[in-house]
Amino acid sequence: MRRKLIAGNWKMNLGYRDSEKLAKDISAKTGKKELDSLDILLCPPYVSLGIVNKAIKDTGIKLGAQNLFFENDGAYTGEISASMLKSVGCEYVISGHSERRTIFHETNADVNKKVRKTIESGMKPILCVGESLIEREDDIFEGIIEKQLTEGLEGITAELMKGVVIAYEPVWAIGTGLNATPEQASSVHGFIGNVIQNLYDKNTAEELVIIYGGSVNTKNAEEILSACGIDGALIGGASLKADDFTYIVKTAANIKQLVK
Ligand code: PGA
Repeated sequence: MRRKLIAGNWKMNLGYRDSEKLAKDISAKTGKKELDSLDILLCPPYVSLGIVNKAIKDTGIKLGAQNLFFENDGAYTGEISASMLKSVGCEYVISGHSERRTIFHETNADVNKKVRKTIESGMKPILCVGESLIEREDDIFEGIIEKQLTEGLEGITAELMKGVVIAYEPVWAIGTGLNATPEQASSVHGFIGNVIQNLYDKNTAEELVIIYGGSVNTKNAEEILSACGIDGALIGGASLKADDFTYIVKTAANIKQLVK
């Protein structure tokens, strides 16, 4: 059974104590109803994973990382391994975020190694896919997304797909205040389902959690989260304010039906 997922991607924001405070404020404002009906995830910067894990301990809110390096250990100055993230309480790892693809030149092959290592380590990858504005305007976005999925998921069996989350994040909507219309998002979520069905099978596609990201905020959350095929959201800017993030969490919890 698919469960809704609302994830906060804090990106490179907030120091150690501010992260602790935000995590505590979010857990204080989150009730049983929300926790019963959806998965709630916080992805702070690496240095705050430990303190945020402590702040959300026993609340039911989950912890995730924004990235990892796919090697097990060794001379990789500045990098963080999957087992380190697991040991600090992470259950999810974001991979293939467009900021990592563009600023840090991560390829689909790199993303695939990260997704595989995340699963191998017993955590759930959130594989981000999405097109740039030019790719949308040139109407080649479906091909781009299909390639990101096919190459990003290479070597992952249908059985292992049970732990995978896909985030559709149109690059032109991230941090810009622009968001895909519910129709645009629904259409791409449906397309992602079809690609997964072709790569795997109908059941894998039906069970796959596909969330939307890109300027989700308190004003547009209800409309986006009610749209067909949208199982939740990956939230950047609005996840940095406890009131806004929990408002979106409550909005998601009030939407009964997950439709595909
Ligand atoms: P945004 O970021 O909500 O600030 O647009 C979303 C994301 O990058 O995951």
